Amino acid sequence: MPFKKFLIVLVFCFLSISCDKIKNDPAEITLIPRPNVLTQVEGRFVVDKNTAIMSDPELMPAANFLTDYIFFGSGVRLDFKSKGQSISFLKDDQIDPEEGYRLDVKPDGIIIAAKNAKGAFYAVQTLRQLMTEKLENANLKAAAIAVPCVSISDSPRFKYRGMHLDVGRHFFPVEFIKKYIDALALLKFNTFHWHLTEDQGWRVEIKSYPKLNEVASFRNETLIGHYNDQPQRFDDTVYGGYYTQDEIREIVAYAQKRFITIIPEIEMPGHSQSVIAAYPELGCTGESVDVATKWGVFETIYCSKEETFEFLETVLDEVMGLFPSTYIHIGGDEAPKTNWEKCAACQKRIRDENLKDEHELQAYFISRIEKYLNQNNRQIIGWDEILEGGLAPNATVMSWRGIGGAVKAAKMNHDVILSPTSHCYFDYYQSESQDEPLAIGGFLPLRKVYDFEPIPEELNEAETQFVLGAQGNVWTEYMREAKQVEYMVFPRILAMSEVVWSAKDLKNYSDFVSRVERFHNRLKALDINYANHLFEINGQIKFTDGMGFYSLETESKSKTIRYTTDGQAPNSGSILYSEPIKIDGDIIVQAAVFDKGNQIGSVFTQEIKRHIGFGKEPTINVEPHKAYNAGGIRALTNGIIGSDTRYGDSEWLGFWGENLNIRIEFDKPTAIQSVSTRLFNAMGQWVYAPKMITIRTDRSEKTVSIDSEGLTIVPVNIPISGEVRFIELLIPGYGIISKGYQGEGNPAWTFIDEIIIQ
Ligand code: ACM
Ligand code: ZN
Repeated sequence: MPFKKFLIVLVFCFLSISCDKIKNDPAEITLIPRPNVLTQVEGRFVVDKNTAIMSDPELMPAANFLTDYIFFGSGVRLDFKSKGQSISFLKDDQIDPEEGYRLDVKPDGIIIAAKNAKGAFYAVQTLRQLMTEKLENANLKAAAIAVPCVSISDSPRFKYRGMHLDVGRHFFPVEFIKKYIDALALLKFNTFHWHLTEDQGWRVEIKSYPKLNEVASFRNETLIGHYNDQPQRFDDTVYGGYYTQDEIREIVAYAQKRFITIIPEIEMPGHSQSVIAAYPELGCTGESVDVATKWGVFETIYCSKEETFEFLETVLDEVMGLFPSTYIHIGGDEAPKTNWEKCAACQKRIRDENLKDEHELQAYFISRIEKYLNQNNRQIIGWDEILEGGLAPNATVMSWRGIGGAVKAAKMNHDVILSPTSHCYFDYYQSESQDEPLAIGGFLPLRKVYDFEPIPEELNEAETQFVLGAQGNVWTEYMREAKQVEYMVFPRILAMSEVVWSAKDLKNYSDFVSRVERFHNRLKALDINYANHLFEINGQIKFTDGMGFYSLETESKSKTIRYTTDGQAPNSGSILYSEPIKIDGDIIVQAAVFDKGNQIGSVFTQEIKRHIGFGKEPTINVEPHKAYNAGGIRALTNGIIGSDTRYGDSEWLGFWGENLNIRIEFDKPTAIQSVSTRLFNAMGQWVYAPKMITIRTDRSEKTVSIDSEGLTIVPVNIPISGEVRFIELLIPGYGIISKGYQGEGNPAWTFIDEIIIQ
């Protein structure tokens, strides 16, 4: 999509409107995603029972949505009539592109102009956000509906604006799916990627194969706590469910009314253990397995024999009957080839089809399904593993293991959707607070989502047209309840809505945060359980002339920060933060956000250790990976230890498969006694501690082996005494992840924390 330059005009014209005594506060306008052009003028339009609605027939779906919405929240049903002050829906073919709209609110009427009902629907979502949030909740009894006068011209940056939800790991009721779709509509998303099948449960009724629902939809028990906890424990409770075809039709219709396409995902050839539990003959071994009860990647995948294709085609026939979407997502990720290597039928298939190996067999599998779906006028989307062994001719690639898959596929002239773990995985932690509910791992704060740029730098202008858009993913291993899904999704979905809708050159994080703060009222009215980390404090260390300074910041700029360095909890009498704190010894900074003397956020605590290497600038043979380099190379010597649970914070540095050589030099020979650091170890996230580390100085060299068995954080402490001019740490990557483990065949990540020299 070519970049469009849009102009933002925010004009406050102070016209005098005699009938309107309420002062017009520009701050009351809280639109998310931010529109391209917004001009606010003095005055309001008041919607009441006398307000008329007029609409071009083609725009009626949007007009109906508005009248239903106003009726729901206020009890007032607006009449379609042609006299009186009105809200008019006008068809305007000049408005481009397909999803754009204009919205003009004047004291004597509102005009919505769009080329089609979809654009008009987005205008209605904007209008909705201009009206009182009380309308969102029938219990709040909105009385006066005053809409501030504005002129808005708007259209989306990307044509694919998606949110995903995994209902396989945990199953959520129809009412919640509708609530999720409602939230997507409010934020102008147009795609709901419904991940319906998993190792742990099959969630769509398939009439031709009843055991998919009798067997594959239920598991005997579920893992308790985190996957990495040892020993693993289970809850001994049968869990499951599925959506009936009637329910799915109802949800599809519900989404259609909100201009949201539901893309169903039917996983293959991997993540299908539940199916093989129901129909063991579809696996390579014929052995019976259980529906999975814990998370991960499983070797029990579909066999490539004919029966599998007959089964899948029949299933897909029913799926196509339920979902009108052009796209069907066929998964394709994380399919270990172990069983295929040993299976006579799969090996025969490789020979008969002249395939080179099991990766080409996967490509054969996916291409064959693609052909079937193409014959039915459908298109496939697959996770980026479908690039391995050759990409199916018409496939769209959803890039999740970074952006590499998107770059590769776009250069092959295939459409791509960006959904990299680093910026789009809403199952990751969103705060460094230790009070956060259990999550899978990782760290994806609001700002990182907001800063996501879906168009990879590696693409030239012509190739960028293959970037359809981006998507936030919600894997639910650690979200048992719908309320927890809401907590993980909000507010990060607000940031994602701007990533995919708003013009790039309008991005402004602090403006966004102030809108998020005001948007909380709407989320409350919607009974959405949002996370609020806006009043948390972020600290950052900087070095000037070898001296360390610690700065404090909060997302919300209108509030004050108070702090202590003496171990006392901060209060309204503590030091008012105004400039970075000088670090002249080991200190513990404790700080909190205050609003008019009241503490409104939790206490932030940061210990800083001035060890011998403190503030030294290390050199390193490779740059940390872009996605895990928040603190830069100085994070290794800034006196701050990384989080015990989140390797994505600004203290851990991540490297993908490289052998590292880190060197710290001293100005003069310096007496030291030990060098210590920490390594992260989380196999489920492909993060492995290396097997050994070597420390070299100008006087000696020492190699120690690392035992990381059962540890998430692996401490390394190497005694090394004497006066040295430099130290060098040689840290080999772990290597390729073994078969049968998550990420098998990929290089493991190395994450390293502070290098403490004492
Ligand atoms: C994925 O997260 N396995 C696509
Ligand atoms: Zn097989």
